[in-house]
Amino acid sequence: MAAPHPGHRPGVPTTVDLRGVSRRYRVGSTDVYALREVDLEIDQGEFVVVLGPSGSGKSTLLNIIGALDSPTEGSVVVAGRDLTQLSRADLFAFRRDVVSFVFQTFNLFPTLTALENVQCGVEVGGGAKEARHRAAEVLGSVGLAERLDHYPSELSGGEQQRVAIARALATGNPLLVADEPTGDLDFRTGVQILQLLEDQARAGRTVVVVTHNREISRVADRVVELSSGRVVSDGPPVGGRAAIDDLHW
Ligand SMILES: Nc1ncnc2c1ncn2[C@@H]1O[C@H](COP(=O)(O)OP(=O)(O)O)[C@@H](O)[C@H]1O
Ligand SMILES: [Mg+2]
Repeated sequence: MAAPHPGHRPGVPTTVDLRGVSRRYRVGSTDVYALREVDLEIDQGEFVVVLGPSGSGKSTLLNIIGALDSPTEGSVVVAGRDLTQLSRADLFAFRRDVVSFVFQTFNLFPTLTALENVQCGVEVGGGAKEARHRAAEVLGSVGLAERLDHYPSELSGGEQQRVAIARALATGNPLLVADEPTGDLDFRTGVQILQLLEDQARAGRTVVVVTHNREISRVADRVVELSSGRVVSDGPPVGGRAAIDDLHW
């Protein structure tokens, strides 16, 4: 899909560069580290899966990359912007123009159709008719051309997640981050969602996806594994990248 990327500054690739990033919480009289001294570099167009058990810091990492949270130590440079130095107004512009989030629980409006849900994510500068056209186009690109007028309750979990992904894509933003987008789905559907996200990286977006499911992560090229807030491995999945048919359902 050759969507325009309004947040893509000419000549500034959508890279992620974390240096010495820690996120510390004060709980009572002790410090709790959600992240600890994380270094992570991601290139434009890379598809990265962040793997780790519950509590290992995955959401914290994603929220810091997406400017929803900031580190207590370290530097965060995304798409050429040092997020720890931006004003509130510039952070707002970054969230609007650069990053799109997808969540585990889809977060669709139950009283709006698939088309209307996606239309909500489209910049309406061109008016409602163009927004509808664009929403229909993006829904088609995730395989839902036949479901435009369905309400979320009339869609399967995998279809609802595809609507949520379409809504994220409709903005045209160049960085796509997804927090456990396969968590509520059966395994086969989860793998399909992961592959759909990977297609977005092939189309030039930078894509970071969190999962706690090691088997699902095997379809990725690059897996960054977290444990207790630290990166404990970074590279191809253990045993190499798996074809869908080689996965254990
Ligand atoms: N607001 C908070 N106050 C204290 N500790 C927190 C807070 N948010 C997260 N944590 C802790 O940080 C760690 C990482 O959390 P999180 O990033 O949500 O992990 P994950 O997404 O991998 O399950 C957990 O141990 C969690 O308890
Ligand atoms: Mg989480």
